Amino acid sequence: MNRNDLISIGILAKRTGLAVSAIRYYEERGLVVSVRTGGNQRRFLRSDIRRLSFILIAQKLGLGLADIENELATLPDGRSPTLLEWQRVSRSLRKEIDSRIQLLTRTRNTLDGCIGCGCLSLDRCALMNKEDRAGAGGTGPRYVLDQA
Ligand code: FES
Repeated sequence: MNRNDLISIGILAKRTGLAVSAIRYYEERGLVVSVRTGGNQRRFLRSDIRRLSFILIAQKLGLGLADIENELATLPDGRSPTLLEWQRVSRSLRKEIDSRIQLLTRTRNTLDGCIGCGCLSLDRCALMNKEDRAGAGGTGPRYVLDQA
């Protein structure tokens, strides 16, 4: 097996866990491109498993399809992207991933205490957010949303 092998949409769906209808949808949006065999069968490059896996990961990170399209648009069509091309995509996403890691870390570290939301409903709010001083920094749970 190698990355330039042509595989069916069924194998692509089985390995990625995506529905065939979802793969067709991504194909309609140009996120993956199929080729037709001499027998007019739709086939995909085996390396499209990675493109679709990238879409799955990016969606779990909360990225929208438009952002994902922008990233995948930098990859070549009709051939397997090189490692360098994938590294370019991952570099571009790294800033987004880092800021989500920071948000998740702040959330994990503050969620069982005062999050600076203005409710003043916990005993420790009186200490951590006296008279809702966090509200001066803006709306929402400031101790989670504010960049440290
Ligand atoms: S948790 Fe809401 S102000 Fe402290």
